[in-house]
Amino acid sequence: MKMWSGRFDQAPDAEFEQWQRSFPFDRILLPYEVAASKAHASALAKAGVLTSEELAATLFALDQIGRDGVPEVDDPAIEDVHHYVETRVVEIAGEVGYKLHTGRSRNEQIATDLRLYVRDQIDNIRTLLAEFCSSFISQAESAGQLETTGAPGSARVWPNLGQSEAAMPAYTHLQRAEPVLAAHWLLAYVAMFMRDIDRLTDCRKRLNVCPLGSGAVTGTILPIDRAFIAAELDFTAPTSNSMDATSDRDFAIEFAQALSFVALHLSRWAEEFILFSTTEFGFVKLPEQYSTGSSAMPQKKNPDALELIRGKAGKVYAEATALFVGVKGLPLAYNKDLQETQQPVFAAAQQVASMLRVATGFMTTVEFKFDRMQQAASCGFMNAQAAAAYLVRQGVPFRRAHEFIGKAVRLCVQQSCELEQLSKQDYALCGIQADESFYQALTLKEVLAIHNVPGGTAPARVRESLQTAKEKLSQYFGVAHACS
Ligand code: ARG
Repeated sequence: MKMWSGRFDQAPDAEFEQWQRSFPFDRILLPYEVAASKAHASALAKAGVLTSEELAATLFALDQIGRDGVPEVDDPAIEDVHHYVETRVVEIAGEVGYKLHTGRSRNEQIATDLRLYVRDQIDNIRTLLAEFCSSFISQAESAGQLETTGAPGSARVWPNLGQSEAAMPAYTHLQRAEPVLAAHWLLAYVAMFMRDIDRLTDCRKRLNVCPLGSGAVTGTILPIDRAFIAAELDFTAPTSNSMDATSDRDFAIEFAQALSFVALHLSRWAEEFILFSTTEFGFVKLPEQYSTGSSAMPQKKNPDALELIRGKAGKVYAEATALFVGVKGLPLAYNKDLQETQQPVFAAAQQVASMLRVATGFMTTVEFKFDRMQQAASCGFMNAQAAAAYLVRQGVPFRRAHEFIGKAVRLCVQQSCELEQLSKQDYALCGIQADESFYQALTLKEVLAIHNVPGGTAPARVRESLQTAKEKLSQYFGVAHACS
């Protein structure tokens, strides 16, 4: 039976009728529509609209519909998921099914279903993000040095390396800047993606209120216990204004924006791993499970997983933009334009979830060439700032120290050598009295150790950060499904 034919003389144009339906895509909301309908039916019984037998028959039908699951094929006679569930309740429970829509409107139903969908997706994506972070942490923990570089006894040898102590260059302007622990570099991504978890958690808190009881626009016509319905669906409270509740899609926009951040970070990560996997860098060995070959060039192994993640990120921003633009011109309250806010939410959620699954698979299987990284960390004057810092500790003003070390670098460039290879005489020409402790300050081990501030790359600090990240992550795993 149609939901609204009573006041019409004419049937809708056949093409228009099909075109305005949302069942082809909103049927994935079925589990939420069933849950919300069960809560509404119970509230109807509390309000005296359904007898206890009628309630039992209605709940029985709704449970059956839930068990049958999302229909695989579209039914052109069904307008949307709300129509589908009501039709099926009537099929299963008979005439009593027509009572289910008492005191409610599809406007509040879709607002509720979509919130429930987004809430579930947030929980799912937070878990995927936590698993992704966990893959970085495992890699960071096992990022030990594989080989020392330089001849034994030379200033470059870094003895007694422990776990998480392999070094690599850190870049600014994509030019070598200072050495950093590979674990510290990996933890930078953990910081980034944990921020995304926090953003989703924040979005979840704001969306977790229940529109049911708002009616079509001004509030339901029945004395329905809204707090009861909200609690039934694990919402923290009913929404505060019926007009806002039925037309608000901020939660969907916010969710898509939070996902845009995830996509942004995934794309930056992918880009850096693509760069680092090139022969020119040679820091990353691409896992065969996540690479493809070339049909033309037999030698090729291409970083397709990473490139596709970078490419798909743009599509996530497009969904977020579609939502923003779709809502910006709408007067209060419900307008049918809002039906168009569903697909971008579904698409963004599904896209990001699949990107994260592939990214985690990649991070779990990727291998690092720590010997190459360590070698790269040990040359290119990346100890220059540490050398200046040493002079500062001897009482030289920083600007002067900078100038002296700059001169020393110039000499190195002329002689094609590194700072630790210049003689004491060379240093004297640059205004520097180089003694044993000066040369000591140039070693990779010392250069790393002086960055001894919270959030810095000194090994002790990195171990601290690893510990903190692990603790935070175990909290996420613990609360992912319990934070309503
Ligand atoms: N399928 C509709 C949507 O997604 C449900 C609400 C319809 N409301 C209405 N007044 N026509 O927005």
